[in-house]
This record gives sequence, structure tokens and C-alpha cells, in this order.
Amino acid sequence: MKILLLGANGQVGFELQRALAPLGEVSATTRSGKLPGGIDGLRADLGDADSLAQVLHGARWDIVVNAAAYTAVDRAEDEPGPALRVNGEALAQIGAWAARSTALVVHYSTDYVFDGRGARPYREDDSTAPLGVYGHSKLAGEIALRESGCAHLIFRTAWVYGARGGNFLRTMLRLARERERLTVVDDQRGAPTTSRLIGAATTVALQRWLDGDVARRAGYNGIYHLAAGGETTWCRFARAIVARAAAAGLIPREIEVAAIRSVDFPTRARRPAYSVLDTTRLRERFGVVPPEWTQGLDAVIGELAEAHN
Ligand SMILES: NC(=O)c1ccc[n+]([C@@H]2O[C@H](COP(=O)([O-])OP(=O)(O)OC[C@H]3O[C@@H](n4cnc5c(N)ncnc54)[C@H](OP(=O)(O)O)[C@@H]3O)[C@@H](O)[C@H]2O)c1
Repeated sequence: MKILLLGANGQVGFELQRALAPLGEVSATTRSGKLPGGIDGLRADLGDADSLAQVLHGARWDIVVNAAAYTAVDRAEDEPGPALRVNGEALAQIGAWAARSTALVVHYSTDYVFDGRGARPYREDDSTAPLGVYGHSKLAGEIALRESGCAHLIFRTAWVYGARGGNFLRTMLRLARERERLTVVDDQRGAPTTSRLIGAATTVALQRWLDGDVARRAGYNGIYHLAAGGETTWCRFARAIVARAAAAGLIPREIEVAAIRSVDFPTRARRPAYSVLDTTRLRERFGVVPPEWTQGLDAVIGELAEAHN
């Protein structure tokens, strides 16, 4: 089984490199060709159609897992072109190649395809209405992949974080060391999801797909919501981070985290106020039951504390 992993330097890509290893031979790519730790990997720039074509045609891949994405939500408002190329057009290219090669494509999308006006957890077939360029570009990628006719699994995830990479938890830990008090928005609701959960759930789903016959595999095509259980706000998430980090000795003391409204913290791109994802389909098709978000947080704090001590 030859697996091509795109975007191995990202939060999710890094976890996938390890998580996918039991399924086959994983060839990891990054934009520069350098893998975490400075190891040589393959080079694939999704912003450059020739670079992407070269790696796709470089071997007889059975599965392509795309963890690469243009993820700078605010910057995307000022440079829609690159966001649409990487998150949208590249998926049309990967999908067309996979349809011809009968390869499976695994791809990740986002809660930002929704406008956040929902009042119950979003299901896969609820209407999409992205509020910004990033959400539009990710939705374009979903559509392009579906329309290519290739075998595909699209996991929509949300509020991704982990012990490494650029994420909210690491920002809060840094700020908690520098400041006496933090202010964090308390009117956006979602479920913080660890990159490790995404790697593990992807592997379980892929194993189920590989175990299926042709008819069953075709039935798996589509979108799956993949996020931790429960819900919180960014402010309550920040308080939980600070409390656990102080107890684990990662920050000197538990500082105050005050709640503010999104209107008091303007950002270039608007974010959905509510983006809890309903993961029933993931459970029914693949038997994956995501744990509560607090369990993921305990695990990440534990991992950081172990590295710290
Ligand atoms: N982060 C979240 O909160 C979140 C929420 C919902 C959905 N998602 C989705 O989950 C998936 C994984 O996100 P993540 O959190 O792992 O993101 P991440 O940590 O920002 O990683 C994205 C990776 O994509 C790479 N990349 C960017 N432009 C590229 C290009 N032109 N060619 C090749 N690689 C490129 C980046 O490479 P460099 O290291 O070279 O920049 C980076 O390694 C994405 O599809 C994202 O849309 C994320």
C-alpha cells in the first residue's frame, strides 16, 4: 500500500505521518521538501500545479492524504488567489488525477464552511454559507473533489490544536507567561480537537475502507464531521488551558482570563459564532466515537509537561 501524505509539516500532517505508518509505506511531502527534524522528504507545493503534478505522477500511489492547506484565515481575506489555488484548485487537480488512477483521496475541511447561525450541532448535509475567503476556498475544495468522481473521504474538523504547531493552546501558554491577565472571546462556540485525534480517527476510517469490497468502498465516499465531543467557547477553553498548565508547572501561576465579545476583538475575517459538528455519521460508518474535548486537553497538557520536566 503506497500512501502519499501532503503537508507533513502541519499540525495534522505531523500526526498522520506516525498514525498512517501501520497501513503501508508513507511518503511524506512538504512545501520545502524538508520534513520535521530536517529529514529529507518529497517536495510538493499545492500552489504550483507543476510541482503537484510531479509528485502525483512520481509513483503508483494507492492513497493520497492531503493535510496541506492555506490556513491563514485572516490573511486569506487579502490574498484570495493563493487561498483558492491551494484549498480549491489543487483539489480539482488531485481529484482528476485520482479518478484516472483509481486512487483514494483523504482530505480535510473545516467548520468555517458554515455561517454559525445554527442552534444544534451541524450535520454533514446542512447548508453551507462560508463567512470569509478561507471558508469559501475550503468549500471549493470539497466541491472540486466530489465533482472529480474520485473515491474520497473528506473530514470536516474544527478548532485544531496539539503539542506542536501554531495553535490557540500554544498562543495561550505563551501569553500566560508574559501577561498578568488575558481577554478572550466568549461568544464563539465549538469543540477544540487535537491533531492526534484526527490522525487516529483517519487511520481507523481508512482501515475500515481498506477492509471493504468495491461496493462498500463506494458507499463510504463523502463528508464526515470529525471533532471532539462536547462544546465550549474560546474563553472557557483558555481558562481550562491556564488552570491545567499552572497545575502541571508549564506556567508560573493561574492568571485571570476575562471574557470579551467578538465585536470587542475585531479580526479581518468573520468567524462563525456556533460551529459544533455532529459526528454521528463518523460513528455509524467507521465506529469512531470522539472523546470529550477535555480529555484531549488533558493529554496535550500531559505531553507538554512530560517534555518540560
Ligand atoms: N487549524 C484549525 O483550527 C483547523 C480547523 C478546521 C479545519 N482545519 C483543516 O485541517 C487541515 C489541517 O490543518 P492544520 O491545522 O494541520 O494546518 P497547519 O498546521 O496550518 O498546516 C498546514 C500545512 O499546509 C502547508 N501548506 C500551506 N500552503 C501550502 C502549499 N502551497 N503547498 C504545500 N503545503 C502547503 C503548510 O506548510 P508550511 O509549513 O510550509 O507553511 C503547513 O504545513 C487543513 O485542511 C485545514 O483547513 C484546520
